[in-house]
Amino acid sequence: MNFEFLFSEKTLGDLNLPHRIIMAPLTRCRSSQPGDIPNDLNAEYYKQRASSALIITEATQISPQGKGYAFTPGIHSKEQIQGWQKITHAVHDENSHIFMQLWHVGRVSHSSLQPENVLPVAPSEITVEGQAFTYEGMLDFEMPRALELSEMPDIVEQYRQAAVNAKQAGFDGVEIHAANGYLLDQFLKDGTNKRNDIYGGSIENRARLVLEVVQAVTEVWGGHRVGIRISPTGTFNSMSETNPQALYNYLVEKLNQFNLSYIHVVERFGDAATEDFDFTSLRKLFNGAYIANGSYTGESAEQSLKNDCSDFVAFGVPFISNPDLPERIEQSAPLNPADPDTFYGGDAKGYTDYPSLISASV
Ligand code: PHB
Repeated sequence: MNFEFLFSEKTLGDLNLPHRIIMAPLTRCRSSQPGDIPNDLNAEYYKQRASSALIITEATQISPQGKGYAFTPGIHSKEQIQGWQKITHAVHDENSHIFMQLWHVGRVSHSSLQPENVLPVAPSEITVEGQAFTYEGMLDFEMPRALELSEMPDIVEQYRQAAVNAKQAGFDGVEIHAANGYLLDQFLKDGTNKRNDIYGGSIENRARLVLEVVQAVTEVWGGHRVGIRISPTGTFNSMSETNPQALYNYLVEKLNQFNLSYIHVVERFGDAATEDFDFTSLRKLFNGAYIANGSYTGESAEQSLKNDCSDFVAFGVPFISNPDLPERIEQSAPLNPADPDTFYGGDAKGYTDYPSLISASV
């Protein structure tokens, strides 16, 4: 197939990207312990994938409270900032770009992962179904503690400080994670937000925290170096929303005032239904770029770009097992299958040992 659109240049914010294939954020749980510190192996992994037009890092906790999985990296300590510097240098050495994904998991955590073993925080006292990935193995999620109104400025401050730290670590920009059932998504959607204060109830109120976070982060970076990830129809992490189109149309229109680089839209994740949502009208409402994500192939990504349904396409799992995914797509070369057993945690196996076309041919 001729991938005319996929392999054409385009600007994203003020960055000139050589093609349209972006590496999606992928949780791999391989930071050094103690301290959740990025290491040389992580740098090797990202360097191997630098032929993507832009790398978005694995979700990275903005604070100790924001952590929800064992072995995920943070961006709140000096050691973590220094660890990330190795990664940003490695990616820049390959002439690529890298954004950090800023993450607060909210209720998707466990007291054993929290400072002083307190309960995780959330908009409301509603427990996520399933189990947390902790240092003691998989443990049932607990009922979170609802954040006090007086704590909200500190949540925004956690994002602001993390944005400052990401700059110090040498990133090209940041992506605010407001998708997939984590804290900001928990505030957005009415299945998890039952608050009676100015952060709950109406769409305007449920969008308030996200907009405050975007304001704080763009003050650090400028809108052209900030993106946001959203999952309007997502049900992962026990999420639900009564009227996603009204909620996300409102959010995107409000985001326009910040001149963001992009919205990164999880159009499908697992078996979430998408029939009732009009992603094209969301795209038309937004004044920045639209990054589509969700089980795309080279062919379907090309179609999406050609039909003017997206500006870039982010690939997740295919990048785990194909460090040189753009080259493989361009050459219509076969893709290495991914091994789910090595997705989360472990060492180089299933992480930096997937062959590229070049290494496989020698
Ligand atoms: C995961 O670890 O499964 C995970 C993390 C972040 C996401 C989605 C999934 O946005």
